[in-house]
Amino acid sequence: MMQARLVAMEEGKEPSLPIRSSQPRALPMRLLQFFLIFLGLAIAFMSLSMFMSRHYRFDNVIIPVTNSRIHPCFRRPNDFKSWIKPPLNVWHRMNDSELFWRATFDPQIKSYPFKRVPKLAFMFLTRGPLPMAPLWDRFFKGHEKQYSIYVHTLPMYNESYPSSSVFYRRQIPSQVAEWGRMSMCDAERRLLANALLDISNEWFILLSEACIPLQSFPVVYLYISKSRFSFMEIYDDPGPFGRGRYNPNMEPVVNLTDWRKGSQWFEINRKLAVDIVGDDTFYPLFEKFCRPACYVDEHYFQTMLSIRSPHLLANRTLTWVDWSRGGAHPGTFGKDDMTKEFFKKIIEGQTCIYNNQPSSACLLFARKIAPNALPALLEHSSEFFGY
Ligand SMILES: *[C@@H]1O[C@H](CO)[C@@H](O)[C@H](O)[C@H]1NC(C)=O
Ligand SMILES: *[C@@H]1O[C@H](CO)[C@@H](O)[C@H](O)[C@H]1NC(C)=O
Ligand SMILES: *[C@@H]1O[C@H](CO)[C@@H](O)[C@H](O)[C@H]1NC(C)=O
Ligand SMILES: *[C@@H]1O[C@H](CO)[C@@H](O)[C@H](O)[C@H]1NC(C)=O
Repeated sequence: MMQARLVAMEEGKEPSLPIRSSQPRALPMRLLQFFLIFLGLAIAFMSLSMFMSRHYRFDNVIIPVTNSRIHPCFRRPNDFKSWIKPPLNVWHRMNDSELFWRATFDPQIKSYPFKRVPKLAFMFLTRGPLPMAPLWDRFFKGHEKQYSIYVHTLPMYNESYPSSSVFYRRQIPSQVAEWGRMSMCDAERRLLANALLDISNEWFILLSEACIPLQSFPVVYLYISKSRFSFMEIYDDPGPFGRGRYNPNMEPVVNLTDWRKGSQWFEINRKLAVDIVGDDTFYPLFEKFCRPACYVDEHYFQTMLSIRSPHLLANRTLTWVDWSRGGAHPGTFGKDDMTKEFFKKIIEGQTCIYNNQPSSACLLFARKIAPNALPALLEHSSEFFGY
């Protein structure tokens, strides 16, 4: 039927095709048959290639943006893999409202219908460069399936990591974050939200550019993943820099007795990360009633999580810092401090509670380490830290 119509079309289309009268009549008929077979094959081939393009995934094909009319043919099908695969690129065009909303989608069924290797999300809150990047590169080497990395910088900063670095192209869309202001908590929530987009991230670690790891990756992974509690420094300080910063306008959502304080650097699980990104109860209160000299990054998450999920908190930090010198900022340590004894004192000189048991393994990271310490750390990392 179709062939007949095609013949008719061809005949109608080419009425003036000159056929030399000297040729026998059988030849054009055979030519026509040959042509029809060829046409049939061409149509079959075309349908096959359209079928293939719809049913195979073209993840790695780069399609020019200008060719927008062709897009629908190559769009990734709505299959299961497209849900569980992390975005290839951490850069995106969502604004915070869109990103936070998207990030708080969380599965309700807790057994995963695929092999999920839970990952640690390392989130670096920085102004720009990461002077300790080469040390971190060494720390992460060989553990590619167990971590992911996110870097928040000042918005104008352009990264310049070599493609071999774990930090290459891990910069997320960022905004200005000021110490002690809500923009700092916004940056932390932005890091959490970006990391939540990868369904395999199970623990979320907030670090600064002045942090270094004190243990090897396997030790860090085990310590955090086997903990029943999330790590955030949280305490009730009755003095002027603790309860003294409380504003009674927060009642009854936050009462004076609920007010908590602690350092901003944390290691939390996925549930608490979703709670922080999704919070719209405490946020407006802290934004309005905790402004300098109330440093909101020392109170917001600490107070909110203590009210909502006290049973999930270890109330202590894994990041060593030295306040012994006094003042508004902790001590910074440079190349002359980088000795075996210095780190031995930090790593071995502690006692704490881990999973309800007394423990002497209490710290995984240290700050603040100055950039000039890097060469000494690279030279001695295996002796000091075992990586
Ligand atoms: C994000 O974009 C949406 C839609 O344009 C807009 O309604 C919303 O206010 C934006 N949010 C922010 C934080 O800019
Ligand atoms: C970063 O790169 C963009 C585009 O390549 C450029 O427009 C911008 O000026 C750069 N910013 C800095 C701080 O170098
Ligand atoms: C604060 O106090 C009020 C009145 O005593 C109480 O109803 C409310 O639950 C308290 N808030 C919290 C977070 O405990
Ligand atoms: C942390 O503090 C809360 C009270 O704010 C308490 O309920 C919880 O048991 C503490 N966590 C641990 C591990 O002691």
